[in-house]
Amino acid sequence: MKIAVLPGDGIGTEIVAEAVKVLEVLDLQFEMESALVGGAAFDAHGHPLPDATLQLAKDADAILFGAVGDWKYDTLDRPLRPEQAILGLRKNLGLFANFRPAICYEQLVGSSSLKPELIAGLDILIIRELTGDIYFGQPRGRRMATDGHFPGAEEAFDTMRYSRPEIERIAHVAFQAARKRSKKVTSVDKANVLETFQFWKDVVTEVHAQYPDVELQHMYVDNAAMQLVKAPKAFDVIVTGNMFGDILSDEASMLTGSIGMLPSASLNSKNQGLYEPSHGSAPDIAGKGVANPLATILSAAMMLRFSLNQEEAAQRIEAAVQKVLAQGLRTPDIYSAGTTKVGTSEMGDAVVRALG
Ligand code: IPM
Ligand code: MG
Repeated sequence: MKIAVLPGDGIGTEIVAEAVKVLEVLDLQFEMESALVGGAAFDAHGHPLPDATLQLAKDADAILFGAVGDWKYDTLDRPLRPEQAILGLRKNLGLFANFRPAICYEQLVGSSSLKPELIAGLDILIIRELTGDIYFGQPRGRRMATDGHFPGAEEAFDTMRYSRPEIERIAHVAFQAARKRSKKVTSVDKANVLETFQFWKDVVTEVHAQYPDVELQHMYVDNAAMQLVKAPKAFDVIVTGNMFGDILSDEASMLTGSIGMLPSASLNSKNQGLYEPSHGSAPDIAGKGVANPLATILSAAMMLRFSLNQEEAAQRIEAAVQKVLAQGLRTPDIYSAGTTKVGTSEMGDAVVRALG
């Protein structure tokens, strides 16, 4: 078993180091190899996803990814920006199924900006399609408009599109995931306005015929955004497209207390996966040793479960995270009065100790 370790930029290097620390003490049979990605790779090699990094990722069973991006790269041409590394990995490895579980740990109920009774016991799973939609649809670009409201004016455009097989495979992933949970799927669309999402809704409904034991509900994305803060516990599995999933998963992260707690898994059809925290590189706090490593550590647990077939080790990590929270240890993003503030590496050390 081989793990490609891609820490990236900003807090990426700090939080991935903690996850690696945790993996190393588990004493499992796998090899880890690191490479540069994102802005760090651009600085060293002139490209955010160098060939060698892509090859390492392709050859690995799983990829542990930190975060990419920094404001200082925002003026580069788009193909050279750090974000292209993660988009390129998703595309090249066909990582179409993105799992973003939003779980509110009992001890963090007070860290959320929402009322405790709304989020206590929250456990929802957002399944985001990750290789299609307006993120990758061609054509896209800039040109002089020949029609529209201002013919002759400069304009920019992107293309939202989904093919039947793309929708079918993510729908199967969602219904199968729901079977292992409370058997309820909410498919989020914008079928009232967009052709792409009327098609999405139709295809999801067709696939649902194969899962009569699972309940399917359709919801428009604007309403879903509202329901997520009004009654989040009414959801179980949410399945949606790439862009809506990007937005709704950030919103859902706040239900858990902090975006620093949210892991994610991105899988292809061979169960090869990329595992990363749902948050970004946070350049404002990079290098200060205050970032929360728990989302990355929990992503490593998902990696053991989904790609490396080590369910027991995954549960050990998750239990250790619960334990450090119960001990009252908190990085600044989840700190509240009466708890103990710790830094990034202290938090990682505490998880290692809690593994027992
Ligand atoms: C995410 C991020 C990425 C996305 C960016 C960094 C390209 O926001 O994983 O949610 O938009 O998918
Ligand atoms: Mg995002």
